[in-house]
Amino acid sequence: MNKPIRLGLIGCGGIVQKTHARAYHSLTETVKITAIADVVEENMQKVGSDFDVTDKHRYSDYREMLEKAEIDAVTIATPHSFHAEQVIESAKVGVAVISEKPMATSMDEADQIMEAVSQNAVPYTVVHNYLFTAGMQSAIAQLPEIGETYYGRSTGMGLRSSDFNSNHPNPAFAWRASKSKGGGCISDTSYHEIYSVCTLVQSPVRYVEARVRTMVLDIDVDDFAMLLLEHENGAVTTISGAWSVPATDFGWCEVHAENGSLRVKHRYNVKEALQKYTRAEGWKQIELTDLDEEGLKDSSGHAGYFAATFNALAENRQLPISAEKAYHNLAIIDAARRATKERRAIEI
Ligand SMILES: NC(=O)c1ccc[n+]([C@@H]2O[C@H](COP(=O)([O-])OP(=O)(O)OC[C@H]3O[C@@H](n4cnc5c(N)ncnc54)[C@H](O)[C@@H]3O)[C@@H](O)[C@H]2O)c1
Repeated sequence: MNKPIRLGLIGCGGIVQKTHARAYHSLTETVKITAIADVVEENMQKVGSDFDVTDKHRYSDYREMLEKAEIDAVTIATPHSFHAEQVIESAKVGVAVISEKPMATSMDEADQIMEAVSQNAVPYTVVHNYLFTAGMQSAIAQLPEIGETYYGRSTGMGLRSSDFNSNHPNPAFAWRASKSKGGGCISDTSYHEIYSVCTLVQSPVRYVEARVRTMVLDIDVDDFAMLLLEHENGAVTTISGAWSVPATDFGWCEVHAENGSLRVKHRYNVKEALQKYTRAEGWKQIELTDLDEEGLKDSSGHAGYFAATFNALAENRQLPISAEKAYHNLAIIDAARRATKERRAIEI
């Protein structure tokens, strides 16, 4: 049996403590957290003790970790404005790079990442976790049955409190509300709705029309994102995301095709996540069977994503989410911002 992949973490904040950690604990034969880096001591100590990382391998400067620690791969989970620099520095030392979404904050940064991972020949992937929930995996498996797609739609809306701003005492809120840190609802929340619905439509996006704006909150980034996409196969997709609209049904996507429709509810009871429509039977709940304890808890799909990614790394196979997929998702976001400014559809 191969030795576990030695993993370094860059960023030990909310998502690592709440979600990534559970996934790593379920993958102890494949991956071992060997070194960690964070600029906030408290976060580093929490994750360090959870994974028994020795003091020597806890770093306040991620560059020092890259220089000194014996690692095969890193996971980057920091505010968006740090992703490009940290991916590029990691690629330079030759480790595999798993980056939380989004790839970067601009297409210019994304191009620099593509060049760095290609020049240094390192595996690189971005976390598109919602594709790995049980509901989405089952929907993907059923796509051949529904045939040619013509319409996709997805939504991820919820109201943030009025004190959500860049001075918020919770750092995870503060950076999300700040343009200089790469925040905003389209790159944070709608990011997931975009790749999820585009995966179901199964055709690359060619044109983007959108309005991405700050409607309600006192922040210098968007709290409202409405997109209209046209795909290469002629299908049309609508995406609505907002931090400024109260909603009861947060996070779902659906696809309509010649032989039927599929609807996946994210962030819900995992067992009830998938519905299917056919002319003969109308809308029906699809029973998701064969779910183990971990699958039942994995409402964000992180455990499924990390299992697929680390197994592929261990076996030297292509990673399930390619750099090109993440680049395409960012290009849609970039085009949506341009479409808003220029009030026209943008070709990508
Ligand atoms: N895929 C998902 O479903 C999902 C969900 C939540 C967050 N995320 C992503 O995870 C990333 C982190 O989000 P979060 O909610 O954990 O934020 P957070 O603010 O809770 O955590 C960020 C961590 O990064 C650390 N940090 C900041 N600058 C650093 C630096 N230069 N070097 C090392 N560490 C640094 C902070 O101290 C903090 O511990 C973001 O990219 C976010 O979009 C993804």
